[in-house]
Amino acid sequence: MADVNDLAPYLESFDGVEGYLDWAAFGPLSPAVRAEMLADAELLGSGRRSGIDLVASRVGEARELIAGILACSVDDVVMQPSTTQGLMHAMHGLAGTVIVSAQDFPALRVTARRAHDSRGRLTVREIDPPDGIVTADAVADALDDDVTAVGVSLVDFRTGALADLAAIRELIGDRLLIVDAIQAFGVTDVDWSAADVVCGNGYKWLRAGRGTGFARFSDRARERIQPVLSGISGMQGDASSLGVPAPLSSAAAYQVAPTDPLAAGRLAVALREMTDAGIPEIAGEVRSRAQAVMDLADRYGVPILTPRDRHAGIVTLQPAPHDAAPLSAALANHGVTITARGATIRVAAHAGTGADTLRLLGDALAEVGTTRVVIDVAPGGLTLPDAIEA
Ligand SMILES: Cc1ncc(COP(=O)(O)O)c(C=O)c1O
Repeated sequence: MADVNDLAPYLESFDGVEGYLDWAAFGPLSPAVRAEMLADAELLGSGRRSGIDLVASRVGEARELIAGILACSVDDVVMQPSTTQGLMHAMHGLAGTVIVSAQDFPALRVTARRAHDSRGRLTVREIDPPDGIVTADAVADALDDDVTAVGVSLVDFRTGALADLAAIRELIGDRLLIVDAIQAFGVTDVDWSAADVVCGNGYKWLRAGRGTGFARFSDRARERIQPVLSGISGMQGDASSLGVPAPLSSAAAYQVAPTDPLAAGRLAVALREMTDAGIPEIAGEVRSRAQAVMDLADRYGVPILTPRDRHAGIVTLQPAPHDAAPLSAALANHGVTITARGATIRVAAHAGTGADTLRLLGDALAEVGTTRVVIDVAPGGLTLPDAIEA
């Protein structure tokens, strides 16, 4: 358990520009990650066996750190190029019926559908709960004896809702729970033991850049999910083995080809920074930044789609339709980076997001709030100057 003092260097390491509130889309790389990447690249350029071996050892380091955070065996963990590739392995090897949400990020829905189309062993049952937020009740409505697995994002990319893994686990008994963790891993303090498969990537909240995907397949998951996409790095024997060797019994079976050690090095450094700071502490900071964003939205009367009692770092604003474009423009004018989709604006602050960035957000919200007062009350009989004073 990290002590609170370790959080300070982590928070200070956020050295990107002010106004960055798009961590749910992309996490600017941490200084330690950038330094590690350069150092490892130099080692790989030296041609010395010791340097090449040292960089290769990053893969094991990254797997151990992931296993530590998930509180599982290292044998359960395998590196992946992306979250989606981890989910591809899970869905393609699954049989029966999987429940997924129609509004979830495509990584779950599309991989499930592709598995259905290519193998015909998996039926996809889509649910469409209110606001697209997956709850245990919503899963219960779709549950029957055909269901073998439930797939859900721990933090929903669209609304920021934090799923209740423990409640879903209790509901589904020993069926498999497959979790897309990319918007949650490292920035939420949850009991991961509820999940059988956990897939993520380090290029958002972990600040590790792309190519830093990982997946956990529990014993139960490995018993029931065939490693049908297993390639050369997940097989017994070695390159000189003849015939078609069987897949390994560890999670390595769910891999196509060897991991990029430069990516593993970035992930390992990013994870070490986070575990040194303390993930519960980081999660607390992330929640408090999200709360600050919600407070600003409340102050300027902008509705929020995110459940106030179940969220992590994502806060989705849902301004009135006529406010959406002016708000996006005001945010851009104030140098605030967010993701705007249709009429919603996704704001994602990290633990190291500072007061200056939140002030820029507040300024943009205030600008549109003031404009709205003018537009909304002027037709009602107030003269325009009165409205502006208000
Ligand atoms: C919930 C969710 N899952 C998966 C992805 C894509 O991840 P990857 O590129 O690692 O496959 C995203 C990207 O935004 C996401 O929000």
